[in-house]
Amino acid sequence: MQRFYIKSGNSLKGALTVDTAKNALLPILAASIMVEGEVTILKATRYSDIDAMCDILSYLGAVIKWQEDTLIIDGSGINGSDITLSQSSKLRASIFALGPLLARQKIAKVAYPGGCDIGVRPIDIHISGLKAMGAHIIEKNGFIYANGKNMKGGDIALSFPSVGATENLMMAAVLTKGKTRLFNVAKEPEIVDLQAFLNSCGAKISGAGSDCITIEGVKRLNKKVTYQAISDRIITGTHLLACAMCGGKITLNNVNPSHNDALISYLRKSACQLDIKNDKITMKSQGRLKSFGEVETATYPGVPTDLQAQIMALQCISEGSCMIVENLFESRFKHVPELIKLGGDIRCKNNICFISGKEKLYGATVLAKDLRGGAGLVLAGLVADGYTTVEGIGYIDRGYYKLENQLRLLGADITREEF
Ligand code: EPZ
Repeated sequence: MQRFYIKSGNSLKGALTVDTAKNALLPILAASIMVEGEVTILKATRYSDIDAMCDILSYLGAVIKWQEDTLIIDGSGINGSDITLSQSSKLRASIFALGPLLARQKIAKVAYPGGCDIGVRPIDIHISGLKAMGAHIIEKNGFIYANGKNMKGGDIALSFPSVGATENLMMAAVLTKGKTRLFNVAKEPEIVDLQAFLNSCGAKISGAGSDCITIEGVKRLNKKVTYQAISDRIITGTHLLACAMCGGKITLNNVNPSHNDALISYLRKSACQLDIKNDKITMKSQGRLKSFGEVETATYPGVPTDLQAQIMALQCISEGSCMIVENLFESRFKHVPELIKLGGDIRCKNNICFISGKEKLYGATVLAKDLRGGAGLVLAGLVADGYTTVEGIGYIDRGYYKLENQLRLLGADITREEF
């Protein structure tokens, strides 16, 4: 078992290059199922979720090769259409294979996806969208049996702008005859990146980032594609919040600042100094910040739910009180009892938490129960008096590649240890 051991008190300084986005890479890897040739992904960060997705692609018949941080997927030999229960349950993104398998194999059998336990996380919008495209789907014994031989293009309105459902339906429509228009879709940057990747494969997609995405079905995709995905806006936000908590001055490279507009406006209002130039953000923070007042998570371009726990950690030591409303997932407060162990003053009711900022937190042993909640605990440990141990860090490794190295590079005193 591994844990992080953190000694608080250091301010942060220095520069860090932000890794490629996990939530852009995962649908891109799934989309590679449709390429009957070689897909080369440059600067592919090896999050544990990426390894899990590569295991699924290998199981389907793809050949996976890593050359340092270049990932090469040869999908010419893909002949499978089933994904096992153990593979599906490892990550939410396993469901992203459904659309591409229907597009390429016209048949698929996948189990319900896993992923962080932050709510029920149904897949009804994925299923109803595929059925609207003519897929025949039976859900039985925890598996989804799908047949796509009669699929055709058409107009589909999503009941909620689900990120994963938008991505799944985009991919399913790429090799489906006719024109598909998806309405009420998610607008996250990762959707725009998936469109760019698919178009580089020879797909005909437009509208990503707006309310309507149009896909003209094509017969087949190119056999050789090279692509580099966007950088991870949640990792960028995590480090900005770490600097807001610890104080100091950091520069983040390889970022797309506009992807973090919502957080940046809160940080500026709390008197952090941010200097933004092209793909670089330099942030300076000193002293105790004013609370954010009121924060509601929302779909893009609102405050990302994936930064809610990290924002809560900052609010625990800010001046004043803060109300955080979690609008995306119904049980994404598992980090609250752990923050309270560190001295946080937090009271929750349904999807709302009230945080009264304290001058100090105090080191303790805490347990990560999901990916971003774990990241929030690490940030709190950076400022909690004395030493903090964060256990359950396998969750954190799903979406941060060696987070301890990144933070140490910026001057934090954090190590990974076996126990
Ligand atoms: C993606 O999850 C991300 N994961 C999540 O990041 C992120 O929190 C989420 O989008 C919201 O931005 C990946 O991209 C791999 P949704 P996804 O479908 O696609 C409900 C992280 O930490 N819903 O937009 O699962 C759902 O229950 C992870 O990196 C349905 O009801 O999110 C939730 O309440 C955590 N039916 C809301 O929509 C459906 O069919 C948003 O879910 C699908 C979703």
